[in-house]
Amino acid sequence: MLVDFRAHNAKVGISGILFYGCRRFLELIEGEQEDVDALFGRIERDRRHTGIELLDCRLPGRLFGDWSMPFVDLDGDAQSMPGFAGRPPNMDLRLIDEEIAEEMLILFSVHLASSAQIGSGRSA
Ligand SMILES: Cc1cc2nc3c(=O)[nH]c(=O)nc-3n(C[C@H](O)[C@H](O)[C@H](O)COP(=O)(O)O)c2cc1C
Repeated sequence: MLVDFRAHNAKVGISGILFYGCRRFLELIEGEQEDVDALFGRIERDRRHTGIELLDCRLPGRLFGDWSMPFVDLDGDAQSMPGFAGRPPNMDLRLIDEEIAEEMLILFSVHLASSAQIGSGRSA
C-alpha cells in the first residue's frame, strides 16, 4: 500500500508523513494546492476510510520535502525513539487537534532530519 502511495506522490510532487496509532491515521500532505486537493479527494472517495477530518495546520513551508511519505507507527517503534518517549498524551491520535498536530509534525521533521531511524521513505 505504502509503495503505491509513494509512487503516486512522487509522480505528482507530493511529500509528507503518515502516522498510525490508536487505530487511526494522521497524514500530512504537502504540495501544490491543486495536487493536495486532488489527493484529498481520492482519499475521501476511498471507502476504506471513515470519519475523515481535515486539520488546518499552520506550518512554515514543506517539512518533509526530502522524504516520500515516511511512515511512523506511534504504537510501535516511535515509543522507543529518543525525545518521544514520555509524550504519549500528545501522540494519541484520538485526541489530535491542529495545535498538537503542528507540534508533532515539527518534532518529527527535526527528528527525521537528524536521524534515519524511522520509516523508509527517504528519497534517494
Ligand atoms: C491512511 C491512508 C493514507 C493514504 N495516503 C495516500 C497518499 O498519500 N497517496 C496516495 O496516492 N494514496 C493514498 N491513500 C490511498 C487513497 O485512499 C486511494 O486509495 C488511492 O489514492 C487510489 O485512488 P483511486 O482509486 O481514486 O485512484 C491513502 C490511503 C490510506 C488508507
